Formats: sequence, structure tokens, C-alpha cells
Amino acid sequence: MDPGAPIQERTSCIFLQVTFCRLRTHQWCFILFNVILFHALLFGADFVEEYFLHSLPYIDMKVLEIKNKARKLNIEPLRSNLSKYYVLSQSEVCKGKNIFLLSLVFSSPGNGTRRDLIRKTWGNVTSVQGHPILTLFALGMPVSVTTQKEINKESRKNNDIIEGIFLDSSENQTLKIIAMIQWAVAFCPNALFILKVDEEMFVNLPSLVDYLLNLKEPIEDIYIGRVIHQVTPNRDPQNRDFVPLSEYPEKYYPDYCSGEAFIMSQDVARMMYVVFKEVPMMVPADVFVGICAKSVGLIPIHSSRFSGKRHIRYNRCCYKFIFTSSEIADPGTPLAWKEINDGKECTLFETYYGLVSCKLLTYLDSFKHFHMETIKNNPTYFGD
Ligand SMILES: *[C@@H]1O[C@H](CO)[C@@H](O)[C@H](O)[C@H]1NC(C)=O
Ligand SMILES: *[C@@H]1O[C@H](CO)[C@@H](O)[C@H](O)[C@H]1NC(C)=O
Ligand SMILES: *[C@@H]1O[C@H](CO)[C@@H](O)[C@H](O)[C@H]1NC(C)=O
Ligand SMILES: *[C@@H]1O[C@H](CO)[C@@H](O)[C@H](O)[C@H]1NC(C)=O
Repeated sequence: MDPGAPIQERTSCIFLQVTFCRLRTHQWCFILFNVILFHALLFGADFVEEYFLHSLPYIDMKVLEIKNKARKLNIEPLRSNLSKYYVLSQSEVCKGKNIFLLSLVFSSPGNGTRRDLIRKTWGNVTSVQGHPILTLFALGMPVSVTTQKEINKESRKNNDIIEGIFLDSSENQTLKIIAMIQWAVAFCPNALFILKVDEEMFVNLPSLVDYLLNLKEPIEDIYIGRVIHQVTPNRDPQNRDFVPLSEYPEKYYPDYCSGEAFIMSQDVARMMYVVFKEVPMMVPADVFVGICAKSVGLIPIHSSRFSGKRHIRYNRCCYKFIFTSSEIADPGTPLAWKEINDGKECTLFETYYGLVSCKLLTYLDSFKHFHMETIKNNPTYFGD
């Protein structure tokens, strides 16, 4: 110990040492047990999902055939009939560039302010460790003509809006995914990875790219995100998300990546493009992608650093580590962005502490949220 330390600090330190030395073996074991239990509860599920819950990939004749078709895909008809599919197409933005990651932000037509915020914060990253990144916004058509005029203006200014020919509504999200994967295949075939992300998300592109750079070669068959297991289709005919048995007869959906943010490699996008027409469309958009992935023999890769729809409580070192967080509750994007880019690194301990703290708080938040939902849905609650 530093002999110059204040007396008070020294005595308290000695006191700690004495207390710890006095502990018996079983007391030590108890403390150790609790520390392990704490970590197991906090990180156990992530660990199990990430390393053990893998089903095996499979390749049969059908998959080989699809792979072959995807390799020989002729996109010329698509390119020459561009105006049939897109109002705004940005067909030249990728030309001649070697894009490492193409990030497609799924945005609704009227949310220009949100798009501006993204342009100023995480969307402003154009390269990580020398690997080029391109961020574009994916839109459908608005209902009103005025909104369309605003979008045209925004597009002329920023050159980063792709607008498909379909009405942008919650029911048309599957169409939107198809239109955007088709766009990536046709106009950005040199992008190694494609990120699909929703506009309400915060994305840490540097940590995401770092993770992608460390994937095993070759860069093929990649479909990564927060994997959702064993979801049953909605079979209630009164419900808006009703999926009839004729559309999807099986009991469970295949494992799929949660739709808020996921990544696929270019070859996967091409394979999906080949199978789109054979897959039922009346399922949620992210499930649709999962079913396409399954039909080309892919297994989604799970990473707990994707947040799914949860908002991760802000902590600088935690945000430097994770890939995404949902921002619904927190308008702190600019501040968070500034702080995690201030050049200050996080030590191993700071990262550890950050993860424990943001994980605990997020867990408490979701518990609180769940509790509120239960109260709201409880018929004995007579609130307004
Ligand atoms: C697209 O354009 C090609 C010419 O490159 C044409 O032969 C084809 O009929 C068009 N396809 C559709 C669906 O319009
Ligand atoms: C985006 O627009 C939708 C409706 O068009 C709205 O519900 C949502 O709050 C908007 N989000 C942001 C971040 O502006
Ligand atoms: C985006 O980043 C560049 C440099 O990387 C910087 O010069 C520019 O000011 C940034 N734009 C905004 C809107 O923050
Ligand atoms: C989906 O888009 C199509 C094409 O624009 C449109 O006709 C249809 O009404 C949209 N569906 C919904 C439910 O918005």
C-alpha cells in the first residue's frame, strides 16, 4: 500500500483485510457461490443461446440448386425496369465502390427528423478501420402528396433515400424487405454485408464492423442477429396478425433473427431473392426472412450484443460493446454518440462493470414494463 495514503484509508483497508482473513472456508464458499450465481443469472441465458443452441446446417439437392441459381442470377431485367419497382432508386450510389457494410435503415416516410438525427449521429460513419460503410434509408410510398414532395427534396439534398413502389404501412413490411433485398442484390452487389435496421434503433457501427471482421472466412451463409426461438404463429382470426393454417401450417416458426436489426452476407441476399416467391407472405416480416433462410439451409447465428426491441440503459462502456439498442424511451442519441466517440478507451474492468450495470438496469426496466402491462391488462384495474 502507498505509505502516503491518508491514515483513515489505511485503517479501513487493514480492517477489510482482517475481516476477510477471519472468514471460514464455508463462508468463502458462500461468497464465491453467490458471485457465480449472480453472473449465471445475468449472463447465463446469453451464453447458452450463443454457444449451445445451434441446430445443424443442412445441404440437400434443393439447397445446392438454389445456391447455383443465386450465383448465376441475371439482374439485368431488374436494372432496366427500375421505375417499375422504385420511385427513388439511388441506382448509382454503390457503383464502382467496394462497400464492406451496406446499412439499410427502414424508415417511415413522415419521419424526416429521425432520419436527420441518424445522419448526424451513428449514420455519419463512412468507414471503420478502413472498411467503407454506406448508410441508406429504405422507404415505401407515403399516403400524402405533400410528404412525397418533402421526401423528394430530402433525397436531392442527401442522395440516400430508396423508395419502393408500395404503400408504406405496417402490413406491407414484408414487401418492404423484399424490395430492399432486391435493391441490394441489383444495385449494390459488391457490398459484403447488408444490415437491416429500424429507424428507432441506435447502432454502434464500429463494434459491429469489428465483430464482422473477426468472422471466420469465407464470408458466406451469414445471417446474424438476436435469434428468436420457438415462436408460435398467431391463430386468433380476430387478431390483426392472424396467420391462417393454409398460409403456414407448422406449429412453430423456424428460428429467426429479430427484425429490429440483423445482418446477412451478399450471397444470402441473393439466395433469398431466388426463394422469395415460394415463401408464404402473410407472416411478420422478420419471420418471413427466417423462413426464407431456412429454405436455403441457413442457421441464424445469435449474438446477445443485438438488443432486439429492448432499450439498453445507457452506460458509455456498455454502449461501446453492444451493437444495437432500441431508443424508444430515450432521446439521448446525440449525447451517447458523442461520448462513445470521444476516443477514450474502456479497460477490461470498465467494460465488465458497464455490462453488469446496463444489463441489470435493462433487466429491471423490462420487469417494470412487464409489471405495468400486467396491471393494464388486468380487468380488476379501473384506471383511465
Ligand atoms: C424488363 O426489361 C427487359 C429488357 O431489359 C424486358 O425484356 C423485360 O420484358 C422487362 N421485364 C418486365 C417484367 O417488365
Ligand atoms: C415515425 O413515424 C411514425 C408514424 O408515421 C410514428 O408513430 C413514430 O413515432 C415516428 N418515430 C419517430 C422517431 O419520429
Ligand atoms: C460527419 O463526419 C464528418 C467527419 O467524419 C464530419 O466532418 C462531419 O461534420 C460530420 N457530420 C455531422 C453532421 O456531424
Ligand atoms: C401494400 O401496398 C400495396 C401497393 O402499394 C397497396 O395496394 C396496399 O394497399 C398496401 N397494403 C396495405 C395493407 O397497406
